[in-house]
Amino acid sequence: MKQIRIKFNLGLLSLFALLAFSACMKMHMDPDVTARDIAEKIFSNPLPVPPVLDGKSAAFDAKSSTSMLSSGITVNSLGYAGAPILGATIRIEQGENFNLDFKNNLIEATNIHWHGLEVPAAQDGYPTDVIAPGGSFQYSFQVKNRPGTYWYHPHPDMATASQAYRGLAGFFIVGSAEESALGLPSGEFDVPLVVQDKRLDGGLTYAPSDNDRSIGLFGETVLVNGKPGAMFEVATRTYRFRLLNGSNARIYNFTLSSGATMELIGTDGGLLDAPVAINSVLLSPGERAEVLVNFGGLTVGDEVFLKSNAFAGSATQGKQDFKIMKFIVTRQEDDPFVQVSTLMPVEKIVESEAIAIRTFNIGHMMAHSGTTMSGMIHPLDGKFFDPNRRDEVVNANSVEIWEFDNTNGTETHPMHLHAGQFQVLSRTGGRGQLEAWEKGWKDTVLAFPGEKVRIIVRFPGNLGKYVFHCHNLEHEDGGMMLNYEIK
Ligand code: C2O
Ligand code: CU
Ligand code: CU
Repeated sequence: MKQIRIKFNLGLLSLFALLAFSACMKMHMDPDVTARDIAEKIFSNPLPVPPVLDGKSAAFDAKSSTSMLSSGITVNSLGYAGAPILGATIRIEQGENFNLDFKNNLIEATNIHWHGLEVPAAQDGYPTDVIAPGGSFQYSFQVKNRPGTYWYHPHPDMATASQAYRGLAGFFIVGSAEESALGLPSGEFDVPLVVQDKRLDGGLTYAPSDNDRSIGLFGETVLVNGKPGAMFEVATRTYRFRLLNGSNARIYNFTLSSGATMELIGTDGGLLDAPVAINSVLLSPGERAEVLVNFGGLTVGDEVFLKSNAFAGSATQGKQDFKIMKFIVTRQEDDPFVQVSTLMPVEKIVESEAIAIRTFNIGHMMAHSGTTMSGMIHPLDGKFFDPNRRDEVVNANSVEIWEFDNTNGTETHPMHLHAGQFQVLSRTGGRGQLEAWEKGWKDTVLAFPGEKVRIIVRFPGNLGKYVFHCHNLEHEDGGMMLNYEIK
């Protein structure tokens, strides 16, 4: 096995030393290095569920409009497919061909990245492959992925955070006959939930301060499917919730206020091989988890909150417990769902197949000065994103182990690979173990300060240039992204 070493540029190193130094100075002067707290709302706004669109022949645009988020709160926002914020849920079966006639009706360049999907490089929304205002693009690819919860969002160079924050994101749900045969809750009992924090005092304009560019932009209001203070009426039966952390920087430690367990059935890359009972699931930006929640033991009028529990591991966030949305039981109904003991096989990629190990240092100092001319303040392995560089080259269909090393870091980084799914092999330092939701297919994995996470990936046969990056969107736009080419 070949060990690929990182070439370190001395000029860059001293620059970082300088940045790190000014960063430390700033940290001591700046009291605002922790995420702003969530201000809980009254949970009285009905949860919107995005309309479903058939992915075989879709046509939609991205455009700006205004959204009434709640009574008295109207903001300028961006949306897909006629939605004032967010967009339609694309549904398609594994193996089918996805076709989207996309029109950019924004006043800025954009593109779409199919987060988690294995697509040709030209379809992947590479940061410089953008569609000018007024322009169109035909997205078209065969859906190779396993049944699961994927999503789409813009990915233009240095504008991903801004466009996603202002509202551009949607679900991309893959199904199959094999999945349907499992009899999981479906239709109105299969509910996608995208959770995002926003700053509503700013009217949803994206105006990050230096501090936001450093730790990520945190809002004081949690939106679920675009609604603050969301509530959802449920029957006394089992629901399938598809949780997506679509926030720029905030991590949620999802749990139920009743203390009831949830059955974890899926991760970023689709169904697990068997359900696992969990009390909480920690999702960083970009990550998904599918859970079954049984409201069966409750009576009409009972309320249960989806909340985020405090968590350890990050200096900037996790201090606070807060409610996210309310479920209220409004009807008694028989539960037709029959518990399943197996779901869909997750074939393990074996370590001995790996032909290379690459190690990436993601552990730089926090609170960068934020004053560099280029706006690049978050390095990945000592480098800032440059579309004209080729950082790594891998062979199509080969297996490699990639290590994200945050051992000496002070920041939290959810690391995301484009082009396909991977499996997480190990975590050393910090939590020192893999979580239940990291034992299926993944495309984003969280590394707290002090942690080193190893993943194993079989690169797809699609040739070309892809990116991998931190999915804290301020970090991504701040340079924490590299290229890799599949050849
Ligand atoms: Cu969800 Cu490169 O992103
Ligand atoms: Cu950083
Ligand atoms: Cu990061």
